Amino acid sequence: MSLTRREFLAQTAATTALAGLPLATLAQTAATDTLKAEAGSRGLLVGCCVHAKSLQSDPAYAALVKQQMNILVAENEFKFGPIHPQPTTFYFDDADYIINFAEKNGMKMRGHNFVWHRALPPWFATDVTPANAEQVLVNHIETVAGRYKGRIHSWDVVNEAIQVSDNLPNGMRNSPWQKILPSYIDIAFRTARRVDPHALLTYNDYDIEGEDAASTAKRAAVLDLVRGMQKRGVPIDAIGIQSHLHAGPKYTYGPALEQFMKDVQSLGLKMMLTEMDVNDRDLPADIPTRDAAVADLYSSYLKTTLANKNVLALLTWGITDKYTWLNHEGARKDGLPERSLPFDADLKPKPAFSSELVALKAARHG
Ligand code: XIL
Repeated sequence: MSLTRREFLAQTAATTALAGLPLATLAQTAATDTLKAEAGSRGLLVGCCVHAKSLQSDPAYAALVKQQMNILVAENEFKFGPIHPQPTTFYFDDADYIINFAEKNGMKMRGHNFVWHRALPPWFATDVTPANAEQVLVNHIETVAGRYKGRIHSWDVVNEAIQVSDNLPNGMRNSPWQKILPSYIDIAFRTARRVDPHALLTYNDYDIEGEDAASTAKRAAVLDLVRGMQKRGVPIDAIGIQSHLHAGPKYTYGPALEQFMKDVQSLGLKMMLTEMDVNDRDLPADIPTRDAAVADLYSSYLKTTLANKNVLALLTWGITDKYTWLNHEGARKDGLPERSLPFDADLKPKPAFSSELVALKAARHG
């Protein structure tokens, strides 16, 4: 086998990075193993969010995504503001680029998202009123879901609609949509089903993972939301558990999430871990300490969650620390870059990669 210089360097880098791992882990991790090989052979999807611009400008990043993943989601390019910048103008170039990249490389694609309280275009505040909001929402979903119909594995139809501390009935978030069109959730899901009948329709949210009181309240509100939708005959197929986790002694994950996942399962819904990363802002600066703690959390969290047979997919919110959103939101106070993802900023595998691989190997699907 002859290697190009770049391949040789990449392979050496991978071996060097793995040399720091505990022996037991290393023994289970060959430098040639990929996430998609492990996931694929167990009927699981594994992926990450990507940006169109980086796929275009950074070939080593694009190659790594292609090598490891079998499902992608756009980090921002399918969101309302980016894709619908003016009332009657849609911008599809970046979203098209990503879905074409996915399809060219045999990967599935998630659609994220139709409804969120963030990433709304400026015209939302000036042009959308209670009188036209339903028409705006339906038109948006018809246009976006209509363009990509049949090509999307699962749509995040509604994202982050619950915020119990806003004190509205049923834990609803006091979002721009809620204020203007209180029935937006039902409308969005019914429209998505009509337009793209074979895609899985997902409700996606964060802070439902922990053992703390706020997560407990949010989990209860999510289950109530699903029960209410089912009672009203509103279609919903899956829950997206974002999985933005925190490393450090303040945070614990385990039995409460496991129980929630059983409850979701008994309502007949699938689940996806849609945006996993581990924020290391509460850990000291030392890199081996941070990498070990982050990797430990990947291991324990994935052991718990992948044990549930209704989990279809695991996506991390990025693949490399080079582009993690956490450097812009929730960043470390010491200003050091976050180390939240399976590959470091030089695209070398970290202990978290090994944790993810081992967890996928241990998952008994398919
Ligand atoms: C984040 C992106 O990563 C950032 O680039 C953007 O500035 C803000 O949104 N939950 C979600 C994602 O559902 O869409 C968010 O993505 C992260 C939190």
